[in-house]
Amino acid sequence: ATANLAVLLAQLPEEWDSELPLLLPAHAAGAGLEPPPVPALREQIARARRWRLRDLLAKTVRDCSLFSVTQTSARFTAVARAQAGRLAAVVASPDEAIGSGQTLKDGGTSTVARLLVDGRPLLVKRYNLKGLGHALGRALRPSRAWHSWRAAHLLQFLGIPTPAPLALIEERLGPLRRRAWLVSEYCPGANLLSHLAAEHEPPAAEACAILQLFAAMHRQRITHGDLKAMNLLWHAGQVWLIDLDDVVQHRSAAAHSRAWSRDRARLLRNWPVGSALYRWLDDHLPAA
Ligand SMILES: Nc1ncnc2c1ncn2[C@@H]1O[C@H](COP(=O)(O)OP(=O)(O)O)[C@@H](O)[C@H]1O
Ligand SMILES: [Mg+2]
Repeated sequence: ATANLAVLLAQLPEEWDSELPLLLPAHAAGAGLEPPPVPALREQIARARRWRLRDLLAKTVRDCSLFSVTQTSARFTAVARAQAGRLAAVVASPDEAIGSGQTLKDGGTSTVARLLVDGRPLLVKRYNLKGLGHALGRALRPSRAWHSWRAAHLLQFLGIPTPAPLALIEERLGPLRRRAWLVSEYCPGANLLSHLAAEHEPPAAEACAILQLFAAMHRQRITHGDLKAMNLLWHAGQVWLIDLDDVVQHRSAAAHSRAWSRDRARLLRNWPVGSALYRWLDDHLPAA
């Protein structure tokens, strides 16, 4: 009975775990049972969550009820099955999709475009190969698109705001990876560099969303790796993470702490030292 209860409770967001001492007696009374010991139940909930996450991440690159995955020696694609119809043309020729959209960025290592499909905006990011050295260096590793695809599913699973990942496309040459594309929902928010004024502390709603985001990341030992304010979007009362190429969920507290120091410093560097915003962030973000 405890195991079943743990599996059930593992579906709830983690913020609810602090309510266990209140929930359990109520549940036990309702079920006519003794309440299980809280620490044992917590351990079982954590185990059930880890299992669900591993299962989900494995599914994101395997043909199953949630994802449509196809693989040939020249190409690998994974698409959220519920959207596969709508995305068929984009997945079949992502470069044409980029060409038909509005280019947001055309840098060396990535090209990003926004396009409308069935009247709804999508984001397509192409991971370019810059020269032969870069191509060779990347060929045997999982592509950056692959990494971002997993990271976006991880964040979604944990309830950390990020635009929904919709499709992953990799050009392959047997075991070698070539160019890759990631298709996501388009987030219409403004980035924090343009949205926040350095001379002021953030408004209450933004302040709350910023603290909530970094508290959730901290709890999960997740770091972003490129915390430019341009990679944080303010939308629908939340701060959304984009550009997930270097997101890591750390195994050890020590590795997390080192990476968080770098993330924190990178975020602060967006604004002048000693500005009101800089000081507010430095005072309120989790300690380095
Ligand atoms: N899902 C998205 N929704 C809205 N805008 C996005 C999204 N992803 C990227 N962008 C826009 O495109 C820009 C470049 O994308 P990004 O993933 O940050 O590429 P890069 O790795 O080259 O920095 C972002 O700064 C942002 O303006
Ligand atoms: Mg970026």
